[in-house]
This record gives sequence, C-alpha cells and structure tokens, in this order.
Amino acid sequence: MRVYFSSRSDFGHGENAVSLAAAVRRAAGLPLLDLTRSNPGDPGLGLEPDVSALLALSLDVAARYIPTSFGLDSARSAVSDYYADHGVTVDPSCVVLSASTSEAYGWLFTVLGGPGETVLVPSPSYPLFGTLAQLAGIVLRPYRSVADVERGLAAGAVAVIVVHPNNPTGLLVAPHERRSLSGLCARHGATLIADEVFLDYTGVAGTRQVLPTTFASEADCLTVTLSGLSKVCGLPGLKAGWMVVSGPTLDRTALMGRLDHVADAYLSVGMPVQLALPGLLASRRTFQARVKARLAVSWGLVSGVASVIDGGWCAPVPVRESAVEAPPGEATAMALLAEGVLVHPGYLFGYDEPVVVLSLLTPVEVLSQALPTIVRRARGAATPRPSEN
Ligand SMILES: Cc1ncc(COP(=O)(O)O)c(C=O)c1O
Repeated sequence: MRVYFSSRSDFGHGENAVSLAAAVRRAAGLPLLDLTRSNPGDPGLGLEPDVSALLALSLDVAARYIPTSFGLDSARSAVSDYYADHGVTVDPSCVVLSASTSEAYGWLFTVLGGPGETVLVPSPSYPLFGTLAQLAGIVLRPYRSVADVERGLAAGAVAVIVVHPNNPTGLLVAPHERRSLSGLCARHGATLIADEVFLDYTGVAGTRQVLPTTFASEADCLTVTLSGLSKVCGLPGLKAGWMVVSGPTLDRTALMGRLDHVADAYLSVGMPVQLALPGLLASRRTFQARVKARLAVSWGLVSGVASVIDGGWCAPVPVRESAVEAPPGEATAMALLAEGVLVHPGYLFGYDEPVVVLSLLTPVEVLSQALPTIVRRARGAATPRPSEN
C-alpha cells in the first residue's frame, strides 16, 4: 500500500532547466559568472550585514523566555519607529512579528481564505507566492491591471497582493493605482496585502525617482503591510519579519483577534532576535548605504539594456527570442549559460514576454565581465526558442 500525501505538498521535481544545466556546468568545473546571487550575506558579495546589535545581548537575557503571540513590546515599538522614519504613524499594537515575510503570508492565507478561495497576485512577481499559496490550499489568480483586479474581486477573491516595489519588475504601485485598489478592496470586503520588503531600496542614482510611500497607514480598507529583517537589514537568517495591520477599526480588530491565535500556536520568532530588533533596525542605514552604492554602480552598467525600475535588487532585461514554444526567457538563459553567464529566465516570475532577470547585487567585476555577452543577446539576433515537443 502506498503512503498517502496531500496534493498541497506535491511540488513535482522542482529544478528548472536552467538551474539543472548550471549545476552540470559547476560539477564539470567550468567557469560561471553567476548573476543570480541576491543574499547579501553570501561570502564574496562584499555586502556584509551589520549584526553588532546581537553582541549587546547578555546570556541571561537571551535565555529568558517571554512568550507573547505578537512579539515583545520593545520589538513592536522598534518597527513602529521604522515607519516613523517613512513618515507615517504606526501604533505598536498594530504590529505583529513573524519569523519571516513568507511565514506572514502563510498566516494571512490561513486567516483570510479557506481552501480553494482566491487571492489576486501581480504578474510578473515573486515566484514563492505559488508555493506558499499551494501549501495553504489557496488559489492564486495573476493580475496585470486594475481592471483584472476588479474582475477578480467581482468573482469573489478574498485578498489582493501588491509588491511595492515589485520583484523583479522594480516598479512601485502608483498613487492612482493605490487609490483604485484600496477602494475596490473596501467595496468587496477584501484585504490588501502590501509587500514592502524592498521599499528602502528606491531613489538609487539612475533609476526613476519616485517617492516611496508606505501602505502602513492605509486607512480605506483592511490592509496588511509586510516587511522584515531579510531585506531591510540583509539578515534573512535571523528570522524576523513583521506585519502592520491598518484600516477600519472593526476589520482591524477582527483580523488581530484571528492572527493572535495563529501566532500563539507557533510563537516562532526567537527571543534573541526580538531583543536585538531595536538595535538591528537602528543600524540598518550603514548596510543599506553599502547596498545602494552597489545598486547604483550595477544599474549604471545595465541601464542601457534593462527595463526602467523604481527600486529593488533586480534588473529585468528584455531579450529577443524567435519562436514561441519554450517558456519566455529560457532559450536566452540557456544560450547565456553556454557562454558561462547565469541569469534567471523571466518565465519563472510569470513574464509572458522574453526577459531575463539579473541581480543588481552582483559584484561589479562579475557584472562587467558578463555584460558584453548579455548586451549581445539583448540587442542581437533573436535566440531561437527550441520546440518543447
Ligand atoms: C517580494 C518578496 N517578498 C518576500 C520575500 C521573502 O522575504 P522573507 O525572507 O522575509 O521571507 C522576498 C524574498 O526575496 C521577496 O522578494
């Protein structure tokens, strides 16, 4: 008798053609210019995050366990201070800590939608949404315009995700789009989930200079704004993220009541990182300045071939592909790989058009060396897409 597993945990065999081919190339010891590295803590990137706030923890304090579903008051106040720096007032009682933004999505999907219910998600966007939704039994419906959102909400969607600025398009939600989306959510009783993990990485030289306004004070509809140490301080390994709940009082209270049960069931944010959170957030600017300096140099190199961005750590590069059978961007990514350059194929993020995506955190020497090959692919003759059959 075969053991039963749920369809929610069936993810097929995972690896895509480009990452499989890259693994083969690495195993063969062939040179590879890797333009996909986006974890600042990776050795050799030269963007070391600042963890000095952890040194202030004494053993007895770090070992003390104070279970609180939403997190320590000191940590929630530090998050509120972070938003004060963004020009908005956030009551610390509206802050909920989680181990990561990804975990926060899992909690929200559980609280906002039952199995089979729909959440609207921008496309292209961050690929992990698919995995998180599948685990929660939620159906994701991609949208590309406010009109798509309107249709999705009319069909019963329970929430709308915005990524501000989006990964990997690098675009912020424009003020008029924000007004339309919050109005639509209010009208349909849906929740707006604003993912702002890259909000601090705007205003970089050469990118579009758009004022990055946080959703954390959105009052028109029930809104949950997400961010965390992963990108704000470059510390995904410390496992601390947060949600800010805003909007009409009744809806806010109802959501906080439900999140209280979910958060209390897991109590997943470690005590040491909660204690260190005020210090870590207070020292974020040194790290962010280093990252922004790298982003500015990288953007200066790729801006001639990349699509315009407002912020974030990625650059989408439109390329030319001739046939339509293979997923968009794959043929180019495979051709680049054959020349020793690793990029992400755009279809992984939901692009319908041929695009490859590269990380602007890439060390300058690596990016400079890879650039002529990328420019040739972006501007040159179309790469034939191999037929799938
Ligand atoms: C748009 C977006 N949201 C969320 C995350 C995940 O962040 P965390 O490490 O807090 O789970 C990422 C990570 O790259 C991301 O790009």
